Amino acid sequence: MLHGKRILLVIGGGIAAYKSLDLIRRLQDRGAKVRAILTKAGTQFVTPLSVGSLTGDKVFQELFSLTDENEMGHIELSRDADLLVVAPATADLMAKMAHGHANDLASTALLATDKRVLVAPAMNVRMWLHPATQRNLETLRADGVAVVGPNEGGMACGEFGPGRMSEVPEIIAAIEKALAPAARPLAGHHVVVTSGPTREAIDPVRYISNHSSGKQGHAIARAAAEAGASVTLVTGPVALPDPPGVKTIHVESARDMMAAVEAALPASIAIFAAAVADWRVADIAGGKIKKGAGGPPTLAFVENPDILATISQRTTDRPRLVVGFAAETENVVDNARAKLARKGCDLIVANDVATGTGTFGGDSNTVHLVTADGVETWERQSKDAVAAALVSRIAERIAAR
Ligand code: CTP
Repeated sequence: MLHGKRILLVIGGGIAAYKSLDLIRRLQDRGAKVRAILTKAGTQFVTPLSVGSLTGDKVFQELFSLTDENEMGHIELSRDADLLVVAPATADLMAKMAHGHANDLASTALLATDKRVLVAPAMNVRMWLHPATQRNLETLRADGVAVVGPNEGGMACGEFGPGRMSEVPEIIAAIEKALAPAARPLAGHHVVVTSGPTREAIDPVRYISNHSSGKQGHAIARAAAEAGASVTLVTGPVALPDPPGVKTIHVESARDMMAAVEAALPASIAIFAAAVADWRVADIAGGKIKKGAGGPPTLAFVENPDILATISQRTTDRPRLVVGFAAETENVVDNARAKLARKGCDLIVANDVATGTGTFGGDSNTVHLVTADGVETWERQSKDAVAAALVSRIAERIAAR
């Protein structure tokens, strides 16, 4: 499907630039025509000669080059392509893109283009996790820029975490996806998603909650919106921005979440990814509980409504497909099977949240898909990849009904 496609590859200044040389080859193997812009920083990692030898074309480097502008102006360069791919996309390139800078050839071409852009970020883990980079990432996503990676792993600088550029086959898969006509298999469907933890008050200043980050639920909401659904996301308190194009409702407690979900119905699909607190404090103190002679307070709990079970067992307005999650620390699949039967949903996404798995709060997830027909185990992948795969699986099931 890449045959005859024209890719403009922007190579930024990062150690991962060596992978971009292989990327050129692999794209050519698939019949794509690759042109390259090499940033000034990029020349510190790969030479114009290596890039040019592989593309079989001149390597574009200067914004104000008379010869380049005569042969092919930067506007034409950026529009002549079917897709622009930035790999490695450094923190600096992403910042420039997010803010519309145009002070070198790469940033100018990226601003002047009318084509889709895919970025493959690569940077030090702290730079990736820095709020500035995360803000820029969200801006780019909201602008419609496709993002692949980064992966987690050991870095050239000796640190460990997210920041490694995706591998060449992953970038190629993302390029194919970006060039494919937008598949909107959930167009016309309303999808309700819950995400994040809930907070159960003890008194006006204290609460009970859990470690859920909301990353998986938010990624699902975003993937469903990308698949054409109209999405209502009901989220507990998280440190994530609202996904673009998604109606987001912020709640605190399980009971608030239940009410917001019921108010959002009808929906054809409901996906309950939130880590809802099972219990709440029976009597929430009206004022702050003070230390006193009586020693620490004893808290009595009552069970919260089970949103997944309640919605699964509805007789009116039951969504056609109800998906639950199972956070387990042991006997993951057996417990998920039991949960599927007990709650009455159609599919359970089971994940292992035992200490050391890094699932809670992390960027990747190993999941098992449990249905009445059997169990499927997916390899560990990013939460975004889990979300995309889950949404396409849901779309298949909805289409088959
Ligand atoms: N869930 C819910 N409302 C609750 C509790 C859980 O909607 N009050 C949903 C979660 O969103 C998830 C699924 O139920 O989709 C399973 O959550 P989990 O915490 O794994 O299971 P529990 O029902 O809490 O069961 P257990 O405590 O026995 O593991």
